[in-house]
Amino acid sequence: MNVDIWTRDARTLATDALAVFVFEEETPASPELAPFDTALPGLLPTIFGTEMRGKVGDLVTLHVTSGLEAKRLFLVGAGAREKFDDRTLRQRSAQVARVAAKKGVTSLGIVLRDHFAPGPAATAILDGVITGLYDPALYRKPKEDATTITALTLCLTPSMSAAEATVRQGVDRGIILAEAVNFARTLAQEPSNKLTPAEMARRAQAMAECEGLACTIFNRDQMAEMGMGALLAVGQGSAQEPQLIRLSYRPAGMNGDQGVRLAVVGKGITFDTGGICIKPRDAMWEMKYDMSGGAAVIGAMQAIARIKPPIAVDGYVAAAENMPSSTSYKPGDVLHSYDGKTIEVIDTDAEGRLVLCDALAYARKDGGATHIVDLATLTGAVMVALGQERAGLMGTDPAFIESVKQAAAAAGEKVWHLPLDEEYGELMKSDIADIKNLGNRYAGSITAAWFLREFVADVPWVHLDIAGVAWLDGDKPDLAKGPTGFGVRTVVQLAEQMAATQMN
Ligand code: BES
Ligand code: ZN
Ligand code: ZN
Repeated sequence: MNVDIWTRDARTLATDALAVFVFEEETPASPELAPFDTALPGLLPTIFGTEMRGKVGDLVTLHVTSGLEAKRLFLVGAGAREKFDDRTLRQRSAQVARVAAKKGVTSLGIVLRDHFAPGPAATAILDGVITGLYDPALYRKPKEDATTITALTLCLTPSMSAAEATVRQGVDRGIILAEAVNFARTLAQEPSNKLTPAEMARRAQAMAECEGLACTIFNRDQMAEMGMGALLAVGQGSAQEPQLIRLSYRPAGMNGDQGVRLAVVGKGITFDTGGICIKPRDAMWEMKYDMSGGAAVIGAMQAIARIKPPIAVDGYVAAAENMPSSTSYKPGDVLHSYDGKTIEVIDTDAEGRLVLCDALAYARKDGGATHIVDLATLTGAVMVALGQERAGLMGTDPAFIESVKQAAAAAGEKVWHLPLDEEYGELMKSDIADIKNLGNRYAGSITAAWFLREFVADVPWVHLDIAGVAWLDGDKPDLAKGPTGFGVRTVVQLAEQMAATQMN
């Protein structure tokens, strides 16, 4: 997509469609709408207060033949001005882009409003447009006459025209974030017959080569040598070899041996049948997205490699396929984890924590992580607790929890902090081993996190349970149904934020 910046009167921009945001309470006479009201005499008053109330979701298309150089004017409800933020701007931009693309619009202009911070606004708009246009139909033959938006123009208000360079930087950042999110979505959308653990490793490696990241893949034999008994057990029922993927980013002029080192660890179950504790058939197909945490890690590493923040970051993906077979691990089995702890398997469907515990311990012991974030579609229980709006956030270190919460808020991804008191650990005691992999039927997300916590020792760590937010069941105005790429933006923001505080 070609992106231009327009600093002249938006009414003189020749484009297929021009989008203007409208806040609640605004009228055609409001200062920033008045120029369009003047250009289209009598038209806006007929729709304001009826079709256009400025509510989020409102979108009116006006076909115009005079007054504007654009062929269409999109009026886009933006909600209450006080509540308007970068997340809303991203979502509304995505909505406009999706509507425009459906109408065959190939060039789109978006008018920034006076009170937008130019850089972040440009980021939000580009992020929204590119993630909004994403088509998850990876294997559907494209329509012969299919078009998409190929030219986007950001129209700055007169008070912003000095900020053109800032807007450019914001544009670049928005493109980087959106491409990373879409990359993660593609990985999650890929079915498990295509995206095996080995294929996931190949895609991570290909990305690393393009972006100049170091990439190491550990296969079954290497992991056996290393003693990763938990990760390997999950994968042992499958013909597909499990893989531990490591992507390393080091800023220029820094070997990463000193200072902060962030590890980002993702659950990469390319398909979760439940194993011997097999899942019911309903919606089992969706379990191809059980590698969404790993996908977010790979996507975020791509963005970090492009943005180049001054902080060392390692991404790890614990990839395996959870299958029932004569070689599967079974309930009652005792596993020897990389960390040294023994684990009693109660349920083979609680496999995410088993692959993660070896990756977490590796990140801490060998990777020298000073801070760890993990992302995992870990529990159905988090969907019971928080639905599909917010990811569950749990952790050990209050300051680091606060950092991740701040990063998520700034990135426009919603999380909710759940407790992780000592007492929950009572539920994880085994009669035969150091720990078991299942609690009782209560607090499932917390006991799962509690299990992980046993493997991060005293390293500040935050766990994001993204089971509810990684997948969208139906199309939204701003986002296609299917994988969401949740977590990519938060991780990138966190890395940048930690780099900035480290510098000060
Ligand atoms: N991958 C699932 C969690 C999940 C469920 C993700 C629904 C997305 C949507 C995980 O491996 C799992 O099976 N969890 C079990 C845990 C139980 C056995 C303790 C669950 O949530 O039912
Ligand atoms: Zn499972
Ligand atoms: Zn799973």
